[in-house]
Amino acid sequence: MKERIHAFDYAAEITKALPEGILLNTNGDKFNSMVIGWGHLGVIWGMPTFTVYVRQSRYTKKQLDKTGEFTISVPLAGKLSQEVFQVCGTQSGRDVDKEKAACLTLADAEQIHTPGIQEVPLTLECKVLYRQDQVLADIPDAVRQRYYSRGTDAGDHHTAYIGQIVSAYIIRGA
Ligand SMILES: Cc1cc2nc3c(=O)[nH]c(=O)nc-3n(C[C@H](O)[C@H](O)[C@H](O)COP(=O)(O)O)c2cc1C
Repeated sequence: MKERIHAFDYAAEITKALPEGILLNTNGDKFNSMVIGWGHLGVIWGMPTFTVYVRQSRYTKKQLDKTGEFTISVPLAGKLSQEVFQVCGTQSGRDVDKEKAACLTLADAEQIHTPGIQEVPLTLECKVLYRQDQVLADIPDAVRQRYYSRGTDAGDHHTAYIGQIVSAYIIRGA
């Protein structure tokens, strides 16, 4: 069962959960889910939105660019399970089927083709309104050094995707 909500009524829950990790789900060649720690609720052009930041190297980026839609899944009681966090936050959909590896139970979406996840119940269905690549030269030096200069992250900038929230609910039960 889906309990319909107003996303902004859950702004505190979503914002507090973010630094610990929530899920960004896509469904291009297959369903895939990745942990994100950055993002925000907001409004642009009079529409409620959720914005995510995705590095160029992510399998998720390929899927997002193909479908132009995503779902956000937020744990309501506590954090993501260790299994979901490990699989979705460190492994790539290029190499693994995360639905199987993290034992996720998918729930069909209402307005888009990207499912939500029963085990991670607060769900935002989003259609991409706008995307923008970060310009590394415009990022403050200290931030660029920390996030875009080391190891495999070197030069691996983020693209911001602003998603219009077209449906919001909590998945209850099976
Ligand atoms: C707590 C946490 C927060 C993360 N936040 C982001 C993020 O906001 N953007 C991003 O591109 N990667 C982020 N990552 C890294 C991805 O989750 C990770 O690289 C994932 O394996 C990518 O999966 P994919 O290749 O299937 O897209 C985060 C990882 C963790 C553990």
